[in-house]
Amino acid sequence: MSKKQAHDDYFKKLSAALKEQGLLRPTLVIDEARLEKNTETMLSHLPDGMGCRIVVKSLPSIPLIRKVMDMAGTTRLMVFDLPFLNDIARDIPEADVLFGKPMPVALADRFYEEFKGGDFTPSQQVQWLIDTPERLREYAKLAEQHDLRLKVNIEIDIGLHRGGVSTPEQLKEMLDEIDAHPRLTFAGLMGYDAHVAKVPGILRGHALKKSRAIYKEMREICEDRYPERKNALTFNTAGSPTYQLHEDLKAGTEVAVGSGLVKPLDFDVATLKDHVPACFIATPVLKVEQKTKIPGMEGLSGLSAIFNPKSARAFFIYGGNWQAEPVSPPGLRQNKLYGRSSNEEMLNGPRKMDLNVDDLVFLRPTQSEAVFLQFGDIAVYKDGKITQFWPVIEQEHKKLLPGEKPKQQPQP
Ligand SMILES: Cc1ncc(COP(=O)(O)O)c(C=O)c1O
Repeated sequence: MSKKQAHDDYFKKLSAALKEQGLLRPTLVIDEARLEKNTETMLSHLPDGMGCRIVVKSLPSIPLIRKVMDMAGTTRLMVFDLPFLNDIARDIPEADVLFGKPMPVALADRFYEEFKGGDFTPSQQVQWLIDTPERLREYAKLAEQHDLRLKVNIEIDIGLHRGGVSTPEQLKEMLDEIDAHPRLTFAGLMGYDAHVAKVPGILRGHALKKSRAIYKEMREICEDRYPERKNALTFNTAGSPTYQLHEDLKAGTEVAVGSGLVKPLDFDVATLKDHVPACFIATPVLKVEQKTKIPGMEGLSGLSAIFNPKSARAFFIYGGNWQAEPVSPPGLRQNKLYGRSSNEEMLNGPRKMDLNVDDLVFLRPTQSEAVFLQFGDIAVYKDGKITQFWPVIEQEHKKLLPGEKPKQQPQP
């Protein structure tokens, strides 16, 4: 008789650890040892002097970010959302923050209105990302109105074509404007090269060379202009799929990394092959059906089991419809014909699948930034046990900012 398809040792142990904690609802799990391994792997790739900035949106939990910051010996964070900055100012007051996308000036305004003081000093510790001369002028006006000093970082287009400054002339004009404004300080450049990892085969080398050359040219303009503080400027580049391609400091002097440290499915790319998956969704099986039946096509279920033996049985799980793919037991799959469900999703497997009611199944998120926020506290797995729970930034993230509150409550 052929062998049953079941969890391997890794998932058996993980399953036992979750059950020991009574975790029988959909749970996001991080394998702490694997997270540590990925962080060490990342550090081992960085050439001497290369800084590393942790991407907050991809690791949206303060204890998770802290853990990685401590291991990597960095205080640099890349932030993409204003409520996240509020949390960081409060909980990680030593952080050195660079925005990864430009914020509408009204949101920056609210940050300063809301900011409660403390050890975090925004004028020193935040670099606002500026993509156009218009936005630069808006930020200059904000600085005047509120008597602020602002650090600005210029987004440059190094081939991704997601906006930003694309010519040396534009950069020089913006630097002129910054220098003419006593409240603004130029802090550096941000050029993201995600496109390079997507370019196939031999073309990749060409795309990388080109994006690095553009970066170098823009950076030299800045270094020539501010020779006395050129080493203090931020030259941020790369992301998880491209950081390993930066083997020297000729383009950027720091890389931004987040997702690769937990390696969701979309990050199974050649440039991250020495990183290991460190995040999973665990959820119990609620029902097992011996035959997969599609409503309205029940008569075909016997025939379908012959022609499609890999989907012969049906397992209904607690929850579902996440941006994730089943990984264990191996052979578990979604049923496109039956459709997806956020409540009780149907998964299919072959007859020999060893899976019963109340057993846990495991899925791999395709990305971390949206998926991590859907499960409440993250269960942290280490040495065969769930050792702690890390809250996600979700609650704060969902909170309305003061200016977003309706002026009048609707009448009942
Ligand atoms: C500007 C910027 N840098 C870096 C990253 C890399 O983030 P991750 O390492 O999570 O892919 C991103 C991702 O969106 C980004 O937008």
